[in-house]
Amino acid sequence: MKVNEVREKYLQFFSAQGHAVISSAPVIPENDATTLFTGSGMQPLIPFLLGEEHPKGAKLVNSQKCFRADDIEEVGDNRHTTFFEMLGNWSLGEYFKKEQLTWFFTFLVDELGLDPERIYVTVYAGGEGIDKDEESVAVWKELFAARGIDAKDIHIGSEEDGYKKGMQGGRIFYYDAKKNWWSRSGTPDKMPAGEPGGPDSEIFYDFGEEFADPAYADKKLHPNSDSGQFIEIGNSVFMEFIKQEEGSFKALPRRNVDFGGGLERLTAATLGDPDVFKTDIFESTRGAISTLSGKSYEGNEHSFRVILDHLRGATFMIGDGVLPSNTEAGYILRRLIRRAVRHADLLEIPSGKLGELARPYISVYKDHYVSLDEKEDLIVNTISNEEEKFRKTLVGGLKRFKKIEGDISGEQAFTLFTSYGFPLELTLELAEEQGKSVDVEAYKKAFEEHQSTSRAGADKKFKGGLADTSEMSVKYHTATHLLNRALKDVLGESVEQKGSNITPERLRFDFSFDRKMTDEEKEGVTKIVNDQIKKELPVTFEDLTLEEAKKKGAIGLFEEKYGDTVRIYAIGDYSLEFCGGPHVENIKDLGVFRIKKESASSAGVRRIKAVLE
Ligand code: ALA
Repeated sequence: MKVNEVREKYLQFFSAQGHAVISSAPVIPENDATTLFTGSGMQPLIPFLLGEEHPKGAKLVNSQKCFRADDIEEVGDNRHTTFFEMLGNWSLGEYFKKEQLTWFFTFLVDELGLDPERIYVTVYAGGEGIDKDEESVAVWKELFAARGIDAKDIHIGSEEDGYKKGMQGGRIFYYDAKKNWWSRSGTPDKMPAGEPGGPDSEIFYDFGEEFADPAYADKKLHPNSDSGQFIEIGNSVFMEFIKQEEGSFKALPRRNVDFGGGLERLTAATLGDPDVFKTDIFESTRGAISTLSGKSYEGNEHSFRVILDHLRGATFMIGDGVLPSNTEAGYILRRLIRRAVRHADLLEIPSGKLGELARPYISVYKDHYVSLDEKEDLIVNTISNEEEKFRKTLVGGLKRFKKIEGDISGEQAFTLFTSYGFPLELTLELAEEQGKSVDVEAYKKAFEEHQSTSRAGADKKFKGGLADTSEMSVKYHTATHLLNRALKDVLGESVEQKGSNITPERLRFDFSFDRKMTDEEKEGVTKIVNDQIKKELPVTFEDLTLEEAKKKGAIGLFEEKYGDTVRIYAIGDYSLEFCGGPHVENIKDLGVFRIKKESASSAGVRRIKAVLE
């Protein structure tokens, strides 16, 4: 099957079971300063999993654009990608284990046509004061029995003993919290207070022994052993707990289901080949890489996959408003493009071609992700410009390299990496030509130190916990709508939101504009916002079709298609914007709005930091 077909089938199947289809949130979270990227389908739904009512009801389904920066270094095998689409369905207190497991299993077997003999499942073995998940086991046994399979349940052991009990002829496997507990921060002990999570039941597809990594030959094989034979294609999280300050768990106001399944992996299962890069979504770009390099995919998989993955990630990131820079999401985008350049060189692709490789992605995705179409030129040009910039940097790095006398220390190799983007392999190649040695151990140490510092930074960022819905953040969110409208009033309608980031302390708003704002313009915007606040306008919302909303002049970022229902928030008769909320009920309590800084964010994009005092 094709990727677009599997996505449509899933959305239709769950719609038929009474789920409302919601659109994908941007891959860069809006109004959530706690994390750089949307890494799972549930992330934009946190407030609703915690108890808020969702405007579209209690049964939801979508395909969410996700990005996992941690996986950058893993890309190169047949199944890891940085960007992916996560099919997701949610029950906000409506249905639970029986319905969820039954529906998804039925979808796999009857809609996708997967052989139930190749399906293996896992459940939570218990711990942390929470019982083992016998309820799911009973459901699984029935589901398999209905397909003529006698499903034996097996205790696989713990991570400490290496789960070395092996398959034992089992079909349903109990694992500990390391494998069968899900929260955004991992196992129960790592969860910050206020974070929701729960036991889960994962589904693995057996692609066959021929795909098992030989490195696993002497180890005990089991579904979750990462051998390459079994690949996870879906995860039903029974999200019914919230972590407490003192470390224990409390039941959430309602028992939720949070399901996520990788769209590309599910498609790969329908094809019987675990290599996600062989699904149709990559086909045109893969062909273009072959033509440009004169090389085939077979035998050059690693570099092909890095380019395929990274350019797709870059395409979606730019589509959602990110531009290359030296910080945060912009830095990750820069790394993606630069790593792609490096692998394009390894394949001997002529320089200056990477931007064009984004076009086939845009054409294959644009029916579902409509905004990509509008941004085609921006995406292609951004990648091309970054490639050019990197090539210039490389020339500078080469000069610096030549100045190094004698052997290359770890620190020098690391500086070449951080300042000039030289990956270690490149430094090694240069060094080899000149008969120099490189202190690889010291380089690796410096690299690891750097990694753990940035990881600590990321953890800290994440420990903020939830998509923040504190009173101040909600106020800042509403103020952002006023600012967005006021900027258009002062600078012109062509000004568009490019990003937004809110903490309880301030708002940050990026918008397209190609020069510094004058003092008069800043004062004008400030005055408009404060005048509106003084009018004590109410904030209301209504759900309209996309066409009606556009007709009314609603502004903002949206991903919906013709016929979809969208929510728009109105602030009196001043602002009308596409948004999922939450907002204050009346703007009278926002306080006094003040712009603290207006500066360049990236080419053609300005950034305002503002506070409410
Ligand atoms: N949120 C769950 C996951 O990402 C479904 O695996």
